[in-house]
Amino acid sequence: MDKITKAQQIKQLLILKSLGYKYYNPSLLEQNQNIINLPENIDNLKKEALGCHLCSLSKTRTNVVFGEGNLHAKIMFIGEAPGETEDSLGRPFVGKSGELLTTMIENVLGLKREDVYISNIVKCRPPNNRNPLEEEARTCLPFLKKQIDIIKPKIIVTLGSVALKYLTTNEFQISKVRGTVIKQDNLVIIPTFHPSYLLRNPSAKKDAFEDLKSIKKLYEEIIG
Ligand code: URA
Repeated sequence: MDKITKAQQIKQLLILKSLGYKYYNPSLLEQNQNIINLPENIDNLKKEALGCHLCSLSKTRTNVVFGEGNLHAKIMFIGEAPGETEDSLGRPFVGKSGELLTTMIENVLGLKREDVYISNIVKCRPPNNRNPLEEEARTCLPFLKKQIDIIKPKIIVTLGSVALKYLTTNEFQISKVRGTVIKQDNLVIIPTFHPSYLLRNPSAKKDAFEDLKSIKKLYEEIIG
Protein backbone atom coordinates (compact mmCIF):
# COMPACT_ATOMS: atom_id res chain seq x y z
CA MET A 1 0.00 0.00 0.00
CA ASP A 2 1.42 3.43 -0.89
CA LYS A 3 1.80 6.32 1.53
CA ILE A 4 -1.19 8.25 0.21
CA THR A 5 -3.58 5.31 0.51
CA LYS A 6 -2.26 4.57 3.98
CA ALA A 7 -2.71 8.19 5.08
CA GLN A 8 -6.25 8.23 3.63
CA GLN A 9 -7.13 5.03 5.42
CA ILE A 10 -5.80 6.28 8.74
CA LYS A 11 -7.88 9.44 8.28
CA GLN A 12 -10.98 7.36 7.54
CA LEU A 13 -10.33 5.13 10.56
CA LEU A 14 -10.07 8.17 12.82
CA ILE A 15 -13.37 9.50 11.46
CA LEU A 16 -15.04 6.14 12.02
CA LYS A 17 -13.59 5.98 15.54
CA SER A 18 -14.94 9.45 16.30
CA LEU A 19 -18.35 8.20 15.16
CA GLY A 20 -18.18 5.38 17.69
CA TYR A 21 -17.03 2.48 15.51
CA LYS A 22 -14.98 -0.18 17.30
CA TYR A 23 -14.50 -2.56 14.37
CA TYR A 24 -14.41 -2.08 10.63
CA ASN A 25 -14.71 -4.21 7.55
CA PRO A 26 -11.71 -3.34 5.31
CA SER A 27 -13.67 -3.78 2.07
CA LEU A 28 -16.27 -1.29 3.35
CA LEU A 29 -13.52 1.18 4.11
CA GLU A 30 -12.10 0.86 0.59
CA GLN A 31 -15.48 1.37 -1.05
CA ASN A 32 -16.31 4.40 1.02
CA GLN A 33 -12.91 6.04 0.99
CA ASN A 34 -13.38 9.82 1.06
CA ILE A 35 -17.04 9.75 0.24
CA ILE A 36 -18.21 10.90 3.65
CA ASN A 37 -15.99 13.96 3.43
CA LEU A 38 -16.92 15.21 0.00
CA PRO A 39 -19.11 18.31 -0.48
CA GLU A 40 -22.75 17.90 -1.52
CA ASN A 41 -22.61 21.01 -3.66
CA ILE A 42 -21.27 20.57 -7.19
CA ASP A 43 -19.19 23.78 -7.21
CA ASN A 44 -17.54 22.86 -3.92
CA LEU A 45 -17.01 19.32 -5.14
CA LYS A 46 -15.32 20.68 -8.26
CA LYS A 47 -13.12 22.93 -6.12
CA GLU A 48 -12.09 19.91 -4.06
CA ALA A 49 -11.30 17.89 -7.22
CA LEU A 50 -9.30 20.76 -8.71
CA GLY A 51 -7.10 20.79 -5.62
CA CYS A 52 -6.76 17.00 -5.36
CA HIS A 53 -3.31 15.45 -5.00
CA LEU A 54 -4.38 12.05 -3.74
CA CYS A 55 -2.76 10.10 -6.54
CA SER A 56 0.27 10.44 -8.73
CA LEU A 57 -1.74 11.56 -11.78
CA SER A 58 -1.88 14.97 -10.11
CA LYS A 59 1.85 15.31 -10.74
CA THR A 60 1.61 15.01 -14.51
CA ARG A 61 -1.74 16.65 -15.27
CA THR A 62 -2.13 20.08 -16.83
CA ASN A 63 -5.77 20.45 -15.75
CA VAL A 64 -8.20 18.43 -13.69
CA VAL A 65 -11.08 17.42 -15.95
CA PHE A 66 -13.97 17.43 -13.52
CA GLY A 67 -16.83 16.86 -15.96
CA GLU A 68 -19.44 19.14 -17.47
CA GLY A 69 -23.01 19.39 -18.60
CA ASN A 70 -26.53 19.89 -17.42
CA LEU A 71 -26.80 19.54 -13.65
CA HIS A 72 -30.37 18.31 -14.14
CA ALA A 73 -29.38 15.85 -16.86
CA LYS A 74 -31.46 12.69 -17.04
CA ILE A 75 -28.63 10.87 -18.75
CA MET A 76 -24.94 10.80 -17.89
CA PHE A 77 -22.05 9.51 -20.03
CA ILE A 78 -19.00 8.19 -18.25
CA GLY A 79 -15.70 7.61 -20.01
CA GLU A 80 -12.36 6.41 -18.78
CA ALA A 81 -9.90 9.26 -18.37
CA PRO A 82 -9.03 12.58 -20.01
CA GLY A 83 -6.78 12.45 -23.06
CA GLU A 84 -4.32 15.06 -24.27
CA THR A 85 -6.85 17.62 -25.56
CA GLU A 86 -9.03 17.22 -22.48
CA ASP A 87 -6.00 17.65 -20.21
CA SER A 88 -5.00 20.86 -21.97
CA LEU A 89 -8.53 22.33 -22.02
CA GLY A 90 -9.86 20.96 -18.71
CA ARG A 91 -13.01 19.64 -20.42
CA PRO A 92 -14.15 16.03 -21.01
CA PHE A 93 -14.47 14.52 -24.48
CA VAL A 94 -13.35 17.48 -26.56
CA GLY A 95 -10.80 15.68 -28.75
CA LYS A 96 -11.39 13.22 -31.60
CA SER A 97 -13.34 10.74 -29.47
CA GLY A 98 -15.34 13.66 -28.07
CA GLU A 99 -16.40 14.62 -31.59
CA LEU A 100 -17.72 11.12 -32.11
CA LEU A 101 -19.45 11.08 -28.72
CA THR A 102 -21.13 14.39 -29.51
CA THR A 103 -22.32 13.00 -32.85
CA MET A 104 -23.69 9.91 -31.09
CA ILE A 105 -25.57 12.07 -28.58
CA GLU A 106 -26.90 14.57 -31.10
CA ASN A 107 -27.49 12.54 -34.27
CA VAL A 108 -28.58 9.21 -32.82
CA LEU A 109 -30.11 10.01 -29.45
CA GLY A 110 -31.54 13.29 -30.69
CA LEU A 111 -30.32 15.19 -27.63
CA LYS A 112 -28.05 18.21 -27.36
CA ARG A 113 -24.64 17.82 -25.74
CA GLU A 114 -25.67 20.58 -23.30
CA ASP A 115 -28.64 18.44 -22.15
CA VAL A 116 -26.48 15.61 -20.83
CA TYR A 117 -23.70 15.36 -18.26
CA ILE A 118 -20.29 13.94 -19.20
CA SER A 119 -17.58 12.75 -16.86
CA ASN A 120 -14.85 10.17 -16.45
CA ILE A 121 -13.70 7.50 -14.01
CA VAL A 122 -10.51 9.45 -13.31
CA LYS A 123 -10.30 13.23 -13.52
CA CYS A 124 -6.65 13.53 -14.51
CA ARG A 125 -4.90 12.30 -17.64
CA PRO A 126 -2.79 9.16 -17.23
CA PRO A 127 0.64 9.59 -18.87
CA ASN A 128 0.66 8.49 -22.52
CA ASN A 129 -3.06 7.76 -22.26
CA ARG A 130 -2.45 4.46 -20.48
CA ASN A 131 -5.39 2.89 -18.63
CA PRO A 132 -5.82 4.27 -15.12
CA LEU A 133 -4.29 2.01 -12.48
CA GLU A 134 -6.70 0.31 -10.09
CA GLU A 135 -5.39 2.48 -7.25
CA GLU A 136 -5.88 5.70 -9.25
CA ALA A 137 -9.39 4.72 -10.28
CA ARG A 138 -10.44 3.71 -6.76
CA THR A 139 -8.96 6.90 -5.28
CA CYS A 140 -10.84 9.08 -7.79
CA LEU A 141 -14.12 7.16 -7.81
CA PRO A 142 -15.66 8.95 -4.79
CA PHE A 143 -15.68 12.19 -6.84
CA LEU A 144 -17.67 10.51 -9.60
CA LYS A 145 -19.99 8.78 -7.13
CA LYS A 146 -20.70 12.15 -5.52
CA GLN A 147 -21.33 13.73 -8.95
CA ILE A 148 -23.83 10.95 -9.61
CA ASP A 149 -25.43 11.49 -6.17
CA ILE A 150 -25.84 15.19 -6.88
CA ILE A 151 -27.00 14.99 -10.51
CA LYS A 152 -29.15 11.89 -10.03
CA PRO A 153 -29.27 10.81 -13.68
CA LYS A 154 -31.99 8.29 -14.56
CA ILE A 155 -29.65 6.54 -17.00
CA ILE A 156 -25.88 6.14 -16.92
CA VAL A 157 -24.10 5.17 -20.12
CA THR A 158 -20.68 3.69 -19.46
CA LEU A 159 -18.27 4.12 -22.36
CA GLY A 160 -15.82 1.25 -22.63
CA SER A 161 -14.62 -1.48 -20.34
CA VAL A 162 -12.89 0.74 -17.75
CA ALA A 163 -16.06 2.68 -16.89
CA LEU A 164 -18.02 -0.58 -16.84
CA LYS A 165 -15.48 -2.20 -14.51
CA TYR A 166 -15.47 0.56 -11.90
CA LEU A 167 -19.20 1.30 -11.87
CA THR A 168 -20.34 -2.28 -11.50
CA THR A 169 -19.33 -5.01 -9.09
CA ASN A 170 -19.70 -8.09 -11.30
CA GLU A 171 -16.93 -8.77 -13.73
CA PHE A 172 -18.98 -8.01 -16.82
CA GLN A 173 -17.51 -8.35 -20.28
CA ILE A 174 -18.45 -5.38 -22.41
CA SER A 175 -18.97 -7.50 -25.51
CA LYS A 176 -21.58 -9.57 -23.61
CA VAL A 177 -23.50 -6.83 -21.80
CA ARG A 178 -23.30 -3.84 -24.14
CA GLY A 179 -26.70 -2.37 -24.89
CA THR A 180 -28.36 -4.09 -21.92
CA VAL A 181 -29.56 -2.62 -18.65
CA ILE A 182 -27.58 -3.33 -15.50
CA LYS A 183 -29.30 -2.24 -12.31
CA GLN A 184 -26.96 -1.54 -9.47
CA ASP A 185 -27.11 0.56 -6.30
CA ASN A 186 -30.30 2.24 -7.57
CA LEU A 187 -28.53 3.16 -10.80
CA VAL A 188 -29.63 2.17 -14.28
CA ILE A 189 -26.47 1.53 -16.26
CA ILE A 190 -26.21 0.77 -19.98
CA PRO A 191 -22.73 -0.02 -21.27
CA THR A 192 -21.56 0.63 -24.78
CA PHE A 193 -18.23 0.85 -26.56
CA HIS A 194 -15.84 3.72 -25.96
CA PRO A 195 -15.74 6.22 -28.87
CA SER A 196 -11.93 5.78 -29.11
CA TYR A 197 -12.48 2.05 -29.61
CA LEU A 198 -14.99 2.84 -32.35
CA LEU A 199 -12.48 5.12 -34.04
CA ARG A 200 -9.95 2.28 -34.04
CA ASN A 201 -12.53 -0.38 -34.97
CA PRO A 202 -15.09 1.22 -37.29
CA SER A 203 -16.75 -2.17 -37.87
CA ALA A 204 -18.02 -2.04 -34.24
CA LYS A 205 -20.00 1.12 -35.03
CA LYS A 206 -23.04 -0.87 -36.12
CA ASP A 207 -23.17 -2.58 -32.69
CA ALA A 208 -22.79 0.79 -30.98
CA PHE A 209 -25.64 2.10 -33.14
CA GLU A 210 -27.85 -0.75 -31.86
CA ASP A 211 -26.83 0.10 -28.28
CA LEU A 212 -27.77 3.74 -28.84
CA LYS A 213 -31.17 2.72 -30.18
CA SER A 214 -31.75 0.73 -26.94
CA ILE A 215 -30.58 3.73 -24.91
CA LYS A 216 -32.94 6.03 -26.84
CA LYS A 217 -35.86 3.64 -26.30
CA LEU A 218 -35.16 3.43 -22.57
CA TYR A 219 -34.74 7.22 -22.37
CA GLU A 220 -38.14 7.72 -24.00
CA GLU A 221 -39.75 5.13 -21.70
CA ILE A 222 -38.29 6.63 -18.53
CA ILE A 223 -38.26 10.30 -19.40
CA GLY A 224 -40.90 10.58 -22.10
N1 URA B 1 -11.50 9.49 -23.44
C1 URA B 1 -12.15 9.41 -22.26
O1 URA B 1 -12.39 8.33 -21.74
N2 URA B 1 -12.53 10.54 -21.70
C2 URA B 1 -12.32 11.75 -22.22
O2 URA B 1 -12.71 12.75 -21.62
C3 URA B 1 -11.64 11.79 -23.46
C4 URA B 1 -11.23 10.66 -24.05
